[in-house]
Amino acid sequence: MELEQGGRERIVHNHVSKVGYVNGVINKRKKPYRRVKRSVIRVPRALQELFVSCKDTFKSPATIPSPHHVQTLCRILDDIKPEDVGLSRDLQFFKPGKNIIKENQRVTYTTMYKCDNFSLCIFFLPESGVIPLHNHPGMTVFSKLLLGKMHIKSYDWVDELEAEVEVEAEPSNNLMQQNSKVRLAKMKANRVLTAPCDTSVLYPTRGGNMHEFTAITPCAVLDVIGPPYSKQHGRDCSYYKDHPYAAFSSSEEMDKGKEANVYWWLEEIEVPENSQMDGIEYLGPPIGEPSF
Ligand SMILES: [Fe+2]
Repeated sequence: MELEQGGRERIVHNHVSKVGYVNGVINKRKKPYRRVKRSVIRVPRALQELFVSCKDTFKSPATIPSPHHVQTLCRILDDIKPEDVGLSRDLQFFKPGKNIIKENQRVTYTTMYKCDNFSLCIFFLPESGVIPLHNHPGMTVFSKLLLGKMHIKSYDWVDELEAEVEVEAEPSNNLMQQNSKVRLAKMKANRVLTAPCDTSVLYPTRGGNMHEFTAITPCAVLDVIGPPYSKQHGRDCSYYKDHPYAAFSSSEEMDKGKEANVYWWLEEIEVPENSQMDGIEYLGPPIGEPSF
């Protein structure tokens, strides 16, 4: 996703008023944000546990988490609450139909923590906000919906062996054959999530790991990403448009792959305009190495 331009995060502080945090306020408006004294900074146990587990799981940028580590991280994330990262459903941003920033529907994000091996980010989607279909090359992604209701779609590439057995992996339409950026994928998820709900995981070894989020109500999604995107290290983000299998397949091929809506053609596209996001400062409880 377009978190950065030219490899650097773009933090836009004047957009912080889009979300606000329970434990900190950095704009001067009294409402709708809640002011809470920060005299005692307490790190929620679940958040500290998440950080320690991420450190234990992602030992290097090449780490692919073991099933045990995936299970542990999912268990911790399943129990994480909005309050653990300084959010509350009472914030104005999360009230459906009452979003004060209606004129700007861009998605906002905040980086809670980032190192070479993993990052923790929260994405704030306004009502109808979209994070368009994108990939995570060589990365494992844990997504936990903290607040709101959203539609999630995810795909994995169909590998050649599977394609030979089940469907034709080359588009039959002449026009599309000329487009080398079209590739067959299998839909893995297409459902609506309502917080609180379990964690979704994308795996780098399962051929693609692409997903798309569309907010039905204002949402906050916590992502654990290991390793983080890095253009420099060949982990840039690509975007896709999905086409139904029938769109570029003959009727004979349709018979072979007629499990409706399972197979889709994904066309790589230029960076879409709605992938642009605004970065805001993280104002929740501190996360990182304990400073004894
Ligand atoms: Fe993603």
